[in-house]
Amino acid sequence: MAILVTGGAGYIGSVTVELLRAKGETLVVMDDLFRGHREALPPDQAFYQGKAGDRELIARIAKEHSVDECIHFAALAYVGESVEDPARYFENNVEQGVALMGALVDAGVHRIVFSSTAATYGEPKRIPITEQDAQWPTNPYGWSKLFIERLLSAYDLAYSLKFVALRYFNAAGATAACGEDHEPETHLIPNVLAAAAGEKPDIAVFGKDYPTPDGTPIRDYVHVTDLADAHIRALEYLRKGNPSDFLNLGTGHGYSVLEVIEAARKVTGRPIQARIEPRRPGDPARLVADAARAKRVLGWSPSSDMESIIRSAWEWKQRHPRGYSASA
Ligand SMILES: NC(=O)c1ccc[n+]([C@@H]2O[C@H](COP(=O)([O-])OP(=O)(O)OC[C@H]3O[C@@H](n4cnc5c(N)ncnc54)[C@H](O)[C@@H]3O)[C@@H](O)[C@H]2O)c1
Repeated sequence: MAILVTGGAGYIGSVTVELLRAKGETLVVMDDLFRGHREALPPDQAFYQGKAGDRELIARIAKEHSVDECIHFAALAYVGESVEDPARYFENNVEQGVALMGALVDAGVHRIVFSSTAATYGEPKRIPITEQDAQWPTNPYGWSKLFIERLLSAYDLAYSLKFVALRYFNAAGATAACGEDHEPETHLIPNVLAAAAGEKPDIAVFGKDYPTPDGTPIRDYVHVTDLADAHIRALEYLRKGNPSDFLNLGTGHGYSVLEVIEAARKVTGRPIQARIEPRRPGDPARLVADAARAKRVLGWSPSSDMESIIRSAWEWKQRHPRGYSASA
């Protein structure tokens, strides 16, 4: 039996593949490589380039590899891009997500781990955010993920499709083999490290007038290996016959943008210039998880602090100065 990993050539997917293989799991990866890299996967990894919504392809992969579980990472994941072109997000994340889930149910797959997001909460009413808090996204990306969460609940009821939807806060960091290589890159830490490496003159800080101690937004950063570990635990949880669930993946500790930049100066030893820009619309002041439920349900406890997250990303960057394109 095998686990189908959609989006497994992407950032979080490739790290999860690395950890699953180290545990001896049998995997088959599919990815359209729009934002992923074949080089992020070991050469001997079973891999299909294609769309998650290609029902025929999914049916074929499921049959040929005896797929009985799926981890569904494949999605477009940039908030700003989703506001500019919502059709692309609903087509890619929702339409293809619906087709994928239908093909999986038809193929007899009954366990799914789904990449959801803190963006499904929208502007939080209180911090830290619990799984019971209201979900009212402020952008099409968040809605596309919330739609699949609702679909999963309905499919569980109707077709006994058991799932764990993991609502990640901010993924960051790297392993020795896999790191973050996106074009364009919108995430803070890779952009801060690009400034540290001299690839950019400075790092833009969007807003210094938020109601936070230093005026910059606060986010909850989780090491990508901790996220990958949560997926493995979620699969084990489902294999034991446990009920479907929604779980926040965060540390419960927030860092402001300026604190992240300061930590990066310390780790890299490089001066990193910050440039203050106006706020971006729709950026909440604080997004910090109450992660008690994931700890209780999965026994998951994220271990990394900001400096070790940045150190791992910096080491990866130094080994892969031009990302995967130069490291294959
Ligand atoms: N990075 C974060 O901080 C974060 C936070 C919350 C949720 N997430 C979610 O986690 C998942 C992985 O995020 P990531 O940061 O690794 O992103 P990523 O872009 O690196 O990985 C996504 C992968 O999916 C592939 N893909 C996209 N649409 C596809 C489709 N229709 N068919 C086949 N392949 C497709 C891309 O080519 C890419 O390799 C996404 O679902 C994202 O929404 C990420």
